[in-house]
Amino acid sequence: MKKKEKLEPCKLNDVLDHSLSAVSQKAKRHETQIIKNIDKNIELSCDPQELSKVLTHLIDNSCDAIKDEYHKWVEVKSHEDSENLILSVIDSGEGISHEITNSIMEPYFTTKERGSGLGLSDSKSILEAHNSSLEYDYDADNTKFDIKIPKELLKESA
Ligand SMILES: Nc1ncnc2c1ncn2[C@@H]1O[C@H](COP(=O)(O)OP(=O)(O)OP(=O)(O)O)[C@@H](O)[C@H]1O
Ligand SMILES: [Mg+2]
Repeated sequence: MKKKEKLEPCKLNDVLDHSLSAVSQKAKRHETQIIKNIDKNIELSCDPQELSKVLTHLIDNSCDAIKDEYHKWVEVKSHEDSENLILSVIDSGEGISHEITNSIMEPYFTTKERGSGLGLSDSKSILEAHNSSLEYDYDADNTKFDIKIPKELLKESA
């Protein structure tokens, strides 16, 4: 059983800004455009440090993936379906080859010279402790990871 996170009311925008400041140096170094496309009114119950860590891991991976591309962008967007708030991190990198998509979330799996291979598995555990999930979207045109947070964790906001 995963440990339960301590949930508190948070603004998604603040959680994301925290992640963006954590990756800002790398993003600048890689001349990456970060496109923020979230509903700024969203409030949810979460452990803000932990959720921010997940977004940081995903954006960090995107920055690594696009560093040699001509078009360098990472988009973070939000939308809702009937059951979940979905936060997507999408990048203009060349994607993930089919041979490794089943392995990327395993602890210590890395294709990087100095990677720990723990970013995605850590993210998955954090989200599971929030009753939420992390999915790689096989069908998307660009590289896309979806964080699915059940609507029960959303606060009604103005
Ligand atoms: N956006 C992405 N584009 C391309 N490949 C990715 C992307 N995100 C993850 N990967 C692949 O998944 C692997 C595992 O990612 P994970 O974040 O768990 O570890 P890592 O990035 O290798 O190491 P660390 O997070 O310590 O830097 C990466 O090595 C890479 O091959
Ligand atoms: Mg990583």
